[in-house]
Amino acid sequence: MRLIPLPLLLLASLAQAATPASVPHEQAEALYQQHCQSCHGANRLGAAGPALLPESLGRIKPDEVRAVIRDGRPASQMAAYASVLDAPQIDALVSYLYQPAATAPTWSDAEIRASHRLLADPDKLPSRAQHGADPLNLFVVVEAGDHHVSILDGDKFEVLTRFQSRFALHGGPKFSPDGRFVYFASRDGWISLYDLHNLTLVAEVRAGLNTRNLAVSNDGRWVLVGNYLPGNLVLLDARDLSLVKHIPALGQDGTPSRVSAVYTAPPRDSFVIALKDVQEVWELSYAGEPTFVPRRIQSRDVLDDFSFTPDYRHLLATSRKAKGGQVIDLDSGAAVIDIALPGMPHLGSGIYWKRDGKWVFATPNVSQGLISVLDLQNWKLIKEIPTEGPGFFMRSHINSAYAWTDVFFGPNNDAVHLIDKQTLEIAHTLRPMPGKNAAHVEFTRDGRYVLLSVWDRDGALIVYDSKTLEEIKRIPMNKPSGKYNVGNKIEFAEGTSH
Ligand code: HEC
Repeated sequence: MRLIPLPLLLLASLAQAATPASVPHEQAEALYQQHCQSCHGANRLGAAGPALLPESLGRIKPDEVRAVIRDGRPASQMAAYASVLDAPQIDALVSYLYQPAATAPTWSDAEIRASHRLLADPDKLPSRAQHGADPLNLFVVVEAGDHHVSILDGDKFEVLTRFQSRFALHGGPKFSPDGRFVYFASRDGWISLYDLHNLTLVAEVRAGLNTRNLAVSNDGRWVLVGNYLPGNLVLLDARDLSLVKHIPALGQDGTPSRVSAVYTAPPRDSFVIALKDVQEVWELSYAGEPTFVPRRIQSRDVLDDFSFTPDYRHLLATSRKAKGGQVIDLDSGAAVIDIALPGMPHLGSGIYWKRDGKWVFATPNVSQGLISVLDLQNWKLIKEIPTEGPGFFMRSHINSAYAWTDVFFGPNNDAVHLIDKQTLEIAHTLRPMPGKNAAHVEFTRDGRYVLLSVWDRDGALIVYDSKTLEEIKRIPMNKPSGKYNVGNKIEFAEGTSH
């Protein structure tokens, strides 16, 4: 799963949260302490229930927060408070939750270490897959609706096991280079290490209070976590998630920043990091005996999310100022060019493929119904393909003639378009479950089948033959958000995002 465009949601939330409530702030705080802190933590940092800080609530709107407090959440410990609290009290709690804590929350190395739990010794577990399925054609399916993960056999399309995850997994799971281990990050900073050979959880640690995503080094030794709160990077030992060190996200002049995204760049033996509040991109080398001192690259604008070119030399990132994208040369450290693109391109979800022997890059757009296609030789816009609405994800496979993209936002969000990778025309439009949001797709390792998510409480994972587009199987699921094929992910296969 890609990163949700948080600023949009956050702005919308703050505007609505400013509605004056008749119950004063101190009383709201008292109500919180009386009714909520036992589960959500004394400082709103989370406990049995999720964290309730403004950063955490950025992904939902105040109206939803109000509804949750009033009506509770089904099949969870979150009860309905409508009979305990009156409407002004609930409104006051909503405003209170969108306000930053009086003292900025901190999360120290000692707290990270105290949260660490080792549940199994990976050295004592069998090192061969114990489940009989092809370990490189498994799918890790994140079910956001009720915070579960399913491990799916990618040949039989049968669920091998299903387990509860931490609240709100974020940014997409990442794999060890051999595909044995998968690493999850949750919105609230919990990192989980799961052994896919033995279908068991190995370790957990809380690396931050609000986390964007994580990356795993290509040598399998390190996990790097990018946090919004506190604004830092947390480096963990990939073997057992023990803390190695944290690196504050401070700009050259000491300005504190949040971390937008971290990715691994395998041919460079490095992590590349986007900062949200200062105009810098960082590269952290993990070659040899690394020092983890960031190399700072000046960017033309702050970065939300980005993609790499196929050779990992250039980085394509959104630029608000340029109203489009900025290209950064990671070798020279120079900002190469600004690319004017309409709307808000979601470059982090962009994918590339070969067309007439040349690399092209296509990106969905979260504010306009179009796909922009760029020539990666000269950074020129080749085509804008109109779609039925703004979209979020894009996927293809080297063995597929089509690039699949959703229409995530707007009334036509039940549609998916299949773009012909050579003609750049929409070849097919599917409506897998009319009226329900069709979203993220992922291919099997050989590209023969496509798995599509319908994001609904009564949603499904739908398997298609990627050539005939015939439906092969439908597995009911509760908001299956993203799904990740182990083989495609560890090969950094063409057509998948990093
Ligand atoms: C008994 C434990 C418990 C208590 C007490 C409790 N909650 Fe919750 N709350 C939870 C759990 C667990 C969830 C996550 C539910 C889910 O799976 O979606 C939750 C979810 C929420 C959410 C949604 C968060 C999100 O990011 O989706 C809000 C808002 C919330 N609670 C507010 C409150 C408030 C305000 C109070 C006090 C009036 C309160 N809760 C009391 C356990 C609790």
